[in-house]
Amino acid sequence: MEVKRPLSLEQRRKTSLSDELRDLFVLQLQHELKNFTLYNSFSVYFSCKGLEKLGKYYKGRADEELKHQQWIMQYLSDCDADFEYPSIPVNENQKIDDNVTPFRLTVDREIQTTDMIYHIADVAQGQGDWMTLSFLMGNYNGGRLIPEQIEEESLSRTALDIMSTDDHILKKEDQVYDLYFGGKK
Ligand SMILES: [Fe+2]
Ligand SMILES: [Fe+2]
Repeated sequence: MEVKRPLSLEQRRKTSLSDELRDLFVLQLQHELKNFTLYNSFSVYFSCKGLEKLGKYYKGRADEELKHQQWIMQYLSDCDADFEYPSIPVNENQKIDDNVTPFRLTVDREIQTTDMIYHIADVAQGQGDWMTLSFLMGNYNGGRLIPEQIEEESLSRTALDIMSTDDHILKKEDQVYDLYFGGKK
């Protein structure tokens, strides 16, 4: 199979990353920041309602999103990509009707996140950029965008299942908290 690599030798001496992939990574970085602010807003919502454990759960989820954008920032730097750090996008204020809504929005947001990362992988594959594919799959410098999505989606779906039961809210809160923090060292 003939792969047409997009960079000339002259460009290649400066960076390993095509402009198209660089732009997609900057968008992804911005998207991870957007996830960060969304999960922070859910954290505040629950903390203000006195559901501290759900507040901590979403604070933990938000902090992970910051970590994801750091992976991308580091990868762009290591590729010597010429990029500017993007502005922090704002989420439209979501109307939260009940305690389940944030959990449903989280599942949808994580599916969208996975789709965006898949798109980067598709483009990288088309360009024969195995460095980027390797990074996406978790083989470089602690970044693991694709395997991370297995965890993020699984956790989000299970948390939604818990919150969708008819149990008392304090019991559900404990279960979500244990699901997340129970597995953490
Ligand atoms: Fe993320
Ligand atoms: Fe995670």
